[in-house]
Amino acid sequence: MNKKYRKTIIAGNWKMNLVPSEVKPFAEELRSLLPKTKTCEVALLVPFTHISTLRRSLKDNRISFGAQDVSIHEKGAYTGEVSADMLADMGVHYVIVGHSECRQYHGDTDFTVGQKAAAVLEKGMSPIICVGESLEQRERGLTMEHISYQVLAALSFIPEGKERQIVIAYEPIWAIGTGKTATDEEAQEVCAHIRAVIREKRGARVARSVSILYGGSMNPKNAKGLLSMEDIDGGLIGGASLKPKDFSQIIDAVAEVTGEE
Ligand code: 13P
Repeated sequence: MNKKYRKTIIAGNWKMNLVPSEVKPFAEELRSLLPKTKTCEVALLVPFTHISTLRRSLKDNRISFGAQDVSIHEKGAYTGEVSADMLADMGVHYVIVGHSECRQYHGDTDFTVGQKAAAVLEKGMSPIICVGESLEQRERGLTMEHISYQVLAALSFIPEGKERQIVIAYEPIWAIGTGKTATDEEAQEVCAHIRAVIREKRGARVARSVSILYGGSMNPKNAKGLLSMEDIDGGLIGGASLKPKDFSQIIDAVAEVTGEE
């Protein structure tokens, strides 16, 4: 399976951090630290309130931006929700769907995650579909079954021909915000499994073109090992994405892995 068929993406998930007035200084510092050559796509996934400031602060297109969730509804009486249409109108490129925190705290299910992914695609954006097992599922040997089901459920909402626009993020729940990372091999094993599930359902050409990211305590120290793995095409980074220096060092790790200067 060859990495040349897919994009490498380093995406920062800010979660509910920073305030809008901190966005511009952050973007400026990050831009000054980014390598000249474009080794990978860099994206920042920020709270809804930060999107327009981020868009203005980026000036050129070296950094893509996106949101962390979206409504399953198109429009109407859904107080507090934000639709795919609204995000597309703001120039958003990526939308995270099914983050384990949204599954845990906001009642997202495999089916609402699929609906959200479809809504995002429908408006021409790319969903970053998150999947991942809990510690108990891992300890009971249920990881692969759980991941298969999550991927199959999401795929069932993705129209044929649109698969190349999706990104999958494997985020083991036990590794998120804990400082405990999956080993390179553990992460590779699950990412390869995700690709095999896609291959089985949608064929080899599709499977080789879908970018699969790893997320869960990725940092400048462990990034290179993880990013060297055959089926890991980037990272979805939480804590370390709030520090421009750490985030840019993770981006540098892509250049080290690909041998680019
Ligand atoms: P951390 O990098 O803070 O573990 O968060 C990972 C994550 O949830 C990204 O979506």
